[in-house]
Amino acid sequence: MTKVAIIGAGPCGLSALRSFELAEKKGEKIPEIVCFEKQDDWGGLWNYSWRTGSDQYGDPVPNSMYRYLWSNGPKECLEFADYSFDEHFGKPIPSFPPREVLYDYIIGRVNKGNLKDKIKFNTRVTNTVFKDNKFEVSYQDKINNKTLTENFDFIIVSSGHFSVPFIPEYSGMKSFPGRIMHSHDFRDAEEFRNKDVIVLGSSYSAEDVALQCNKYGAKSVTIGYRHNPMGFKWPKGMKEVHYLDGLEGKKAIFKDGTEQSADVIILCTGYLHHFPFINESLKLKTHNRLYPPKLYKGVVWQDNHKLFYLGMQDQFHTFNMFDCQAWYARDVIMGKIKMPSDKEISDDINKWVAMEEKLENPDQMIDFQTEYTKELHEMSDYPKIDFELIRKHFKEWEHHKVEDIMTYRNKSFSSPVTGSVAPIHHTPWDKAMDDSMKTFLDQPAK
Ligand SMILES: Cc1cc2nc3c(=O)[nH]c(=O)nc-3n(C[C@H](O)[C@H](O)[C@H](O)COP(=O)(O)OP(=O)(O)OC[C@H]3O[C@@H](n4cnc5c(N)ncnc54)[C@H](O)[C@@H]3O)c2cc1C
Ligand SMILES: NC(=O)c1ccc[n+]([C@@H]2O[C@H](COP(=O)([O-])OP(=O)(O)OC[C@H]3O[C@@H](n4cnc5c(N)ncnc54)[C@H](OP(=O)(O)O)[C@@H]3O)[C@@H](O)[C@H]2O)c1
Repeated sequence: MTKVAIIGAGPCGLSALRSFELAEKKGEKIPEIVCFEKQDDWGGLWNYSWRTGSDQYGDPVPNSMYRYLWSNGPKECLEFADYSFDEHFGKPIPSFPPREVLYDYIIGRVNKGNLKDKIKFNTRVTNTVFKDNKFEVSYQDKINNKTLTENFDFIIVSSGHFSVPFIPEYSGMKSFPGRIMHSHDFRDAEEFRNKDVIVLGSSYSAEDVALQCNKYGAKSVTIGYRHNPMGFKWPKGMKEVHYLDGLEGKKAIFKDGTEQSADVIILCTGYLHHFPFINESLKLKTHNRLYPPKLYKGVVWQDNHKLFYLGMQDQFHTFNMFDCQAWYARDVIMGKIKMPSDKEISDDINKWVAMEEKLENPDQMIDFQTEYTKELHEMSDYPKIDFELIRKHFKEWEHHKVEDIMTYRNKSFSSPVTGSVAPIHHTPWDKAMDDSMKTFLDQPAK
């Protein structure tokens, strides 16, 4: 029987499992599937962990999410076509849920069947090589510290790419008397109450970690961008300056001459695509971008069509894009989609990469990833979902952020699956200190 290995049970791995589950429900004969997950439960980054560094088995902790993290995009833009928010929660809920609520939603879709039986938890894939037309996968049972090897016909890599931090060094760091950390290890802004915080970076982590520190009472927050400022209208106590030149004792000196006393430096400098468990010839090598090369349709490894990578793009679209990718990979594996010639594959990849390289602003990037996702959507039986509405929502959301970075999470959007309109949350985000699911969902009746 054909055997498929899925590496990782985060949102992408769960999309892959779900795609096969639905094919089986339609009466199709599906391959044997083994999903390897190095943590003790599913959900990937959404499965919050207080741990940082390494776990009790000495394995690096993949989690990068923090307490009090709320969705940074409208939930409607990531809604599953086959499992709406209304179906899961039994009523419309506000558009920007905290982590626990989204986790509940992700898990709700896969909890009903027997998918958990297909996952080997606490099991870390350590090596993957291709020989004699099979993949030989080595994996470590972390609890019993045993390494085993098994052969597979297909591999789906869904190990994520926001787990291994990129950590640059600046002069003066060695003698800085405060704390230096990466956003990967950030768990809670409470500890920075009354502190002078420096945040380095200009993308989503920099934006949100800086806002968290401000929300939970930091004395000051100074953001140092490298290339382009985020340029939002920051609230009192926050400023954005040009790039860190270096540290002198407690003093941070920036390229534009700004000097700021600092208690803590938080490096929001992004992540590395890191696949220590795959042989060199099969390994995706890229930075965080919208169209990593060597992946046909953003999914199929150009040099070996039995290897798939899910979710390796920089992401506006998330869960439903992962689904479209997973459905596509499933149909290639099940022989429903045939691969074209090498020339067509290479022309198609080059076309998308060339288009990506010309993108100049967030609206164009949203258009690019929407077009990509729509194209994939049309190639499988992934259920109907209104990607045009999602495109519109993303652009509106971007404009809300420019209008006011403190209030964009208080807005409401409509569902691309059911059409229902989200209620406005009962408490504005900057005043909502309790982000438990219960408090979030207890929307007082109007
Ligand atoms: C701080 C932060 C906040 C985010 N917030 C949002 C948000 O608000 N909205 C949104 O849509 N997206 C958000 N994202 C984007 C995020 O990438 C996706 O939501 C999603 O988690 C990606 O799913 P994934 O399955 O690709 O990766 P992950 O969620 O990282 O899951 C990968 C899984 O693979 C496992 N794994 C890794 N290596 C191995 C191995 N060798 N063997 C076995 N298992 C392995 C890991 O343990 C993990 O469970 C956020 C990302 C970060 C870092
Ligand atoms: N739900 C939420 O609220 C939330 C919160 C945090 C993160 N996230 C998600 O997490 C994912 C990762 O986001 P991310 O911001 O961590 O990574 P990212 O989007 O890849 O951005 C990396 C940032 O690091 C900067 N950088 C890299 N090297 C640097 C250096 N040497 N000095 C200074 N800056 C440097 C880059 O600056 P340049 O642009 O100058 O290269 C860029 O701004 C995204 O999908 C995001 O949506 C979500």
